[in-house]
Amino acid sequence: MRETFEFIKDKINDFKPEIAIVLGSGLGAFCEGLEGIRIPYSQIKGFAPSTVKGHKGELLFSNVEGKNCVMMQGRFHYYEGHSLAQTTLPIKVFKKLGIEKLILTNAAGSLKKDLIPGSIMLICDHINFMGSNPLIGENDDTLGTRFPDMNEVYSKRLRNVAKNCAKKLNIKLKEGVYSALCGPSYETPAEVKMLEILGASATGMSTVPEAIVAKYCSMEILGISLITNYAAGLSNIAPNHKEVVEMAKSAGSKLIALLKEVIKFC
Ligand code: HPA
Repeated sequence: MRETFEFIKDKINDFKPEIAIVLGSGLGAFCEGLEGIRIPYSQIKGFAPSTVKGHKGELLFSNVEGKNCVMMQGRFHYYEGHSLAQTTLPIKVFKKLGIEKLILTNAAGSLKKDLIPGSIMLICDHINFMGSNPLIGENDDTLGTRFPDMNEVYSKRLRNVAKNCAKKLNIKLKEGVYSALCGPSYETPAEVKMLEILGASATGMSTVPEAIVAKYCSMEILGISLITNYAAGLSNIAPNHKEVVEMAKSAGSKLIALLKEVIKFC
């Protein structure tokens, strides 16, 4: 982590980011037209290359709406074969860079009929169904405590900021619990039913490890899901990656507009 931090610090000179934004599937357009320092993951010591189609695999340090930000265009997933520690390394590096605010976005499947594809869902809490935890292993006391509290992982203040911004932009914003399974297979209809019974509204294969590590590091977190499809069993169409990326691209502009407004008030 120290080596990765030193490498990035050296590349960005005196640029001081205050917000990190992790862009999920199909949300790369957020970075279009932004000028700044781009660092491909393949050049960053300690970063694994991003292997998922539709994920660019690049860090972009840039001023967005008057705030110094770093965008992760593509993230690391557990299902790619990285350990949860590897998938969350960028979050620890962001914390070391002095970043206190983190915006996590993802593409997710809906577990509820009334949460229709194309909707945007504010994450109010999560359920970790990945079967592991990114904090397993020796604790780094400089980042956080051994047994971190997971109350209000997703900041109430930032959720209110997002709700106000959505209202201003006339964007409908739902709120719900995000559940994460490790993937890469999509859920079975029985699993989808179980997740809904347990109180989740959306499901995906990311975000939760990053949120756990960021909360452990005392960062203020905002999580937003772009609902790209009905999860298995809720419609006649079986979930597939092409549909997920296409819906993320077509409905993504709404989320991108919301993110740009939220950043002003972060
Ligand atoms: N399941 C899991 N992950 C997903 C889905 C889904 O239906 N859609 C987008 N990411």
